[in-house]
This record gives sequence, C-alpha cells and structure tokens, in this order.
Amino acid sequence: MKIDIVSVFPEYFDVLNLSLFGKAQAKGLIEVHAHNLRDWTHDVHHSVDDTPVGGGAGMVMKPAVWAECLDELLGLEPADATPDAAVDTATDTAAGKPVLIFPNPSAPLFTQRDATELSHADHLLFGCGRYEGYDARIPAYYRAQGVNVREYSIGDYVLNGGEVATSVMLEAITRLIPGFMGNPESIVEESYTGEGALLEHRQYTKPAQWRGLNVPDVLLSGDHGKVDRFRRDEALTRTNDIRPDLIEQLGCKALDKADRKT
Ligand code: ADE
Repeated sequence: MKIDIVSVFPEYFDVLNLSLFGKAQAKGLIEVHAHNLRDWTHDVHHSVDDTPVGGGAGMVMKPAVWAECLDELLGLEPADATPDAAVDTATDTAAGKPVLIFPNPSAPLFTQRDATELSHADHLLFGCGRYEGYDARIPAYYRAQGVNVREYSIGDYVLNGGEVATSVMLEAITRLIPGFMGNPESIVEESYTGEGALLEHRQYTKPAQWRGLNVPDVLLSGDHGKVDRFRRDEALTRTNDIRPDLIEQLGCKALDKADRKT
C-alpha cells in the first residue's frame, strides 16, 4: 500500500519509521511519504491560508495550493472547469485507485468498518488541514473529478489539525494489512471487529493471585467451552453497560441462543 500524507508539519510523521510501522516499511508492505504542503506554494511567505469568506475567526486553507499538490500526487491534469456533479460517485476502494482522505471534526465518524475497507486500498492520500480547516471546494472538486474522497472525524472533540487524526486512522488501517502484525489472530478477536462488534472481554495473565485480587476461576478451569461462554457473556454485559449504542446496532444474527439469556 502506498501512503502519501500532506501536512504543513510533515515531521509529525517521522515516528512512522518506528515499531511495527517501520518494520512494515522495511518489508515493503507499505511505502509512506510525508509531504510539506508549503512546497507547492509560490510566494515568499509560503502561505497556505487566508481569512474566511463571510467573516469569522481564524484562517482557512486555500484551495489553489492544495490543488497543485493533490493534482501532482494523484497524477491528475489541472482542470479549471469541474465535470458534472453526477460524477460524484467514486466511493469504492477498487484496486489501484487512490483514496483521498481529509480528517475533519465535522465529518462522519471513522469506524473499524472504514479501517477494514481502507486496508484493501492500494493508495491512500491524507490531506491534513490546520487552522479553521480547508476550503470546502477542495474535496468537492476532487469528488467531481471522480476521485474517491472521504472525510472522517476520529471523535467528538476538536484537535489542532488533521495530523494526529491521520496517525490514528493510519494505525487502525495498516495493522489490518496481512503480514503487518506479528500475530494476525489477535486482530480477529478484538473489540469492534466482525459482524456483531462488541467490546472485548477483560484479559488477565499470571499470577492467578496478585495483591489480593484473583483471576476468575473459570479461566483456570481448562474447560474451553466454559471459558468461551464466560468471555462472551462478559463482552455482552460490558458492551451493554459501557456502549449501549453498540448493542442496539447488533443484528439478531450476531446473537446465539445463550446470548439471549445474558
Ligand atoms: N481535526 C481536528 N479535530 C479532528 C477530529 N476530531 N477528527 C478528525 N480531524 C480533526
């Protein structure tokens, strides 16, 4: 998977050379390039923002500089006129097609489902906004060019820019690429994974007794059926207590007979 990131602070992404990310790059599973948006400016101040039309506080990122950068990274010819809005349909992660992603606190929430889908893409391009955000015509223009454009929020809070949100999404996506994780089985069992997404049961390791606190007896029983049932019940009750919204989204098919008693 090729990953381009555009930011006015590309140094944020130096950490991607570390840990599993660094190993995945060395193995050739992913190829990451962090670009400085200011490299596409032409003025002495390398300015990337301007005041908001209609008034208001802060600055908005200008479309022209983003367009020069994105045209180049997407391999598109600069075009003045946008085609019909009817072209606004590219949402598939078809092989070879780039997906252009803008982190945005006012966008739909990024979920495990999105991470799974995007882990199959060949090329992701993240555009990190700063200040009050980016001119709304930037994603609109590329959608109209037939580019698969996504805007995502990573949570109901406001960050100073898209860099941290990009790191979060990147980690969620890339760890799902086959070969990225040392132990791929750990992904299958995790919270938010699969059809009936539940919070994961709690985990314990040895010793069985520690500072007066015991590991639940059933986990020491060696009875795999009972262990599975205990963990499943705990996942259901914890999800119900902590994230009742996830329980509401569970389809009937995601529940077995014993679950219904829980
Ligand atoms: N930029 C600023 N805050 C953000 C958020 N919560 N999600 C995505 N991008 C952001």
